[in-house]
Amino acid sequence: MSASVLLAGTTSASAQQTSNKADLPPNLAAATPLITNIPGRVSAGETTSLNGSWQYIVDPYETGFFDYRYKELRADNPAAYWHDPTPKTKTDLVEFGWNDKYSLMVPGDWNHQKDQFVYFEGTVWYQKSFDFARKLAEGSGKVYLYFGAVNYRADVYLNGHKLGFHEGGFTPFNFEVPDSLLKAKDNNLVVRVNNTRHKDDVPTLNTDWWNYGGITRSVDLVEVPASYIRDYSLQLEAPVTKNAVVSGYIQLSQLDGSATADQKVHIEIPELGFSKDFTVTGAKTPISFTLPHLELWSPEHPKLYTVSISLPMSGGKDRLSDKIGFRTVKAQGKQVLLNGKPIFMRGIAIHEEIASEVRRAWSKQDALQLLGQAKELGCNMVRLAHYPHDETMTRAADSLGILVWSEIPVYWTIDFTSKEVFAKAARQLQEMITRDHNRASIIVWSVGNETPVSPARTEFMHQLINEAHKLDNTRMVSAALEVNYNSGKNVNLIDDPLGEFVDLVAFNEYLGWYGGTPDKCRTTNWATPYNKPLFISETGGGAKYGFHADSLTRFSEEYQVWYYKELVSMLGRMPDNWVGMSPWVLADFRSPKRNNPVYQEGWNRKGLFSDKGEKKAAFYILQGYYNSIKNEGHGWPAKTGH
Ligand code: GCU
Repeated sequence: MSASVLLAGTTSASAQQTSNKADLPPNLAAATPLITNIPGRVSAGETTSLNGSWQYIVDPYETGFFDYRYKELRADNPAAYWHDPTPKTKTDLVEFGWNDKYSLMVPGDWNHQKDQFVYFEGTVWYQKSFDFARKLAEGSGKVYLYFGAVNYRADVYLNGHKLGFHEGGFTPFNFEVPDSLLKAKDNNLVVRVNNTRHKDDVPTLNTDWWNYGGITRSVDLVEVPASYIRDYSLQLEAPVTKNAVVSGYIQLSQLDGSATADQKVHIEIPELGFSKDFTVTGAKTPISFTLPHLELWSPEHPKLYTVSISLPMSGGKDRLSDKIGFRTVKAQGKQVLLNGKPIFMRGIAIHEEIASEVRRAWSKQDALQLLGQAKELGCNMVRLAHYPHDETMTRAADSLGILVWSEIPVYWTIDFTSKEVFAKAARQLQEMITRDHNRASIIVWSVGNETPVSPARTEFMHQLINEAHKLDNTRMVSAALEVNYNSGKNVNLIDDPLGEFVDLVAFNEYLGWYGGTPDKCRTTNWATPYNKPLFISETGGGAKYGFHADSLTRFSEEYQVWYYKELVSMLGRMPDNWVGMSPWVLADFRSPKRNNPVYQEGWNRKGLFSDKGEKKAAFYILQGYYNSIKNEGHGWPAKTGH
């Protein structure tokens, strides 16, 4: 499976609806490379937020897109919902329009905002009118329209013209806005959002989480000078605090997309008295520099430095700042080394959801709530499941000192034989890594979860792992693998062929929930043929908060407590390459697959926090175990030997 099909998922307007080809230079609407560090551009006054109330039309019959013969409406057909619906005369027949009566907040999923949307899957049109005061003279800069994420497919129109479309519900994308299109007043921005599930999507038809739809993350207009800093990477080469070498690259972009002539880029780290110019040529320029002294980032000491990067000579003096932690991480032999020292990961898996409000999380406050709960549990690591979470989450993890596993939703049985599906997955991988490759907290890129073993699957996943390493060779790459329970001995083997290609061998196990009762742990051992660090990426059992019974009773808190007690004692017998775990799951979360009318009612109840934020009894078992590792164990679990 060659990577050349990498760029699927964002297609130019021209490819989509030939009939509505706007007078746009063709390449402009093509997949515009992602600009990074939007928060850092905010500080440079380069962004205008379009968050807030947007008007909407629910369109289950796609009337805004297709005619009554279900043929795509021509671009200039006034019945298309991307056009201005204002009747020209009183006789004009107009059968769509926008009205405050029909408003949704952005960012936000539509499911929690109106009862009629709880289960809605289909098309909702969003509309936002906005004025735009350029800061740079027309022609001396460019404007991007940036979406943090839209689930699942977004077709984006401005002032009646299509900018393009994007697929993938959890990664950012942006479109360049041609000067010819942008007005000072009353711009008409229309986004067709569709979250219908399809077999050839990523994720595919079946997931154990709620398919929240909508413009779920922030929307910004970003205005940059003609020549600007599109992307950069700054990584510590070796875990030293004296004469520490930082290397990476600077990627400039030029108004016409052409390679830039030599330009001077200035990097400053005021706290370290570091200030230096670099000559940047062409597109992606490697850079490296030495810092006389440096504090390394770690969970115990989440030191972040303000780094400012500027292009003093560019028309608008492009300048952005970022908060970056410097640390190294790698898998070596059977260990994971953070700053050269072996670490043990006390983790928990988290869905991007604020359960108490039954909605997608997106804000800094949401991130601090979820990571605060993980900290309370005694965690130094979180698995952000099963898709990239909002940038607010990874930036909060940087400042709180929490290690992060970030994943793309190659989940269960997607179509591993399809080039198009591979391209979609690879695109999401590229967007995830491009957005977050300067986050110190992220130590693992995961390319998927519980994908069934087959040659096509292993080849597909192997290619994704190669892509991830090509995009970023400073972090581990992994995937949540399945277990071979048929090794015949009382040893469950993690011998998934994909184990050969990952850096961290991670597996999901539910011994005592999906397999027998928790006492099964007493006679079970785990092993892997791979000489690599081993990680439990999921384990857990369900309980309905407040339901108490004997420990044999499913969904009782006592059963969940039993599950965790048996787990903790079994963990004393884990092999010596065991480096941590992220039990399933921090809090109960919405799932359309959980329909026990007494205990579940559309909730996966494996949380240690209930959907109301109450701590279940099992919370204290895991917290106690993690605190014992942190305190008595000096960071390592006690071994009880076989
Ligand atoms: C699976 C899966 C999760 C799911 C969990 C469960 O392993 O990866 O997404 O929610 O198990 O069954 O609760």
